[in-house]
Amino acid sequence: MPDYLTACIGAYTILTTADPIVKAKAARHLRADWVEYADIGTLPEPPPKQPARPAKPRLVAPNEVARRGLGTEKGRGALLHAIAHIELNAIDLAADMIARFWDDPLLAPEDRHDFISDWSSVCDDEARHFILLQDRLEQLGMTYGDCLAHNGLWNAAMDTCENFQARLAIAPLVLEARGLDVTPGMITKLTQARDMQSVEILEVIYNEEIGHVKIGAKWFQYVAQKLDESPQTLFHNLVRQHYKGRIKPPFNVQARTLAGLCEEYYVPLVKL
Ligand SMILES: [Fe+2]
Ligand SMILES: [Fe+2]
Repeated sequence: MPDYLTACIGAYTILTTADPIVKAKAARHLRADWVEYADIGTLPEPPPKQPARPAKPRLVAPNEVARRGLGTEKGRGALLHAIAHIELNAIDLAADMIARFWDDPLLAPEDRHDFISDWSSVCDDEARHFILLQDRLEQLGMTYGDCLAHNGLWNAAMDTCENFQARLAIAPLVLEARGLDVTPGMITKLTQARDMQSVEILEVIYNEEIGHVKIGAKWFQYVAQKLDESPQTLFHNLVRQHYKGRIKPPFNVQARTLAGLCEEYYVPLVKL
């Protein structure tokens, strides 16, 4: 056995690691190994439907997660905790994209390398985002696990476990694209609260998330082409079938367009 991890086993290791910092380090390790060895490998079994997570935060119903104003350190900490939880989910989602779909029949064998390159780089970014937020939480006297959290993001993505094109539609193009809509408002509020250290972190995340949506749009368009369908029509059908939440404005049209997601994708899905 070589002393490096293959991409599939690396992704599996991320998903089955509970400690958030060790998970984030495994994500960075996966990317570094991929860049050096580009060895895909195989998995003996499908990845788990629920990734390993630490004992804290306790997962509760979404409406039980408290929202606080950003005027206090505690309130800002609660917001950063919520974003850290999203980033931890995002590490697992990128790992799951590799472990679950690298050999999907819609993905031509000659394109697997490009696919794993893209998602291992997303996985690495998400790990950096998580670590930045965890460090900031510590500066505020907190740590990841101190607040309640919910499993809505993971559950929404797992509704697409059996369906590569639906996963590409929902995880990057619905859920991550939503992040582009809401992050500028958070940056404005944190700027008003003069928390420039947190602003800097959110700006890094925001800019890199545009790249993640772009990678999602690229692979979604790839599968639409393989299926010989219009990407927009395919997207509408998949979202209606696999997403229980609402697609709601206001949209960050500029960032979405920059990521390759034109209005024809999402505006027809808004329910009046
Ligand atoms: Fe992220
Ligand atoms: Fe992301």
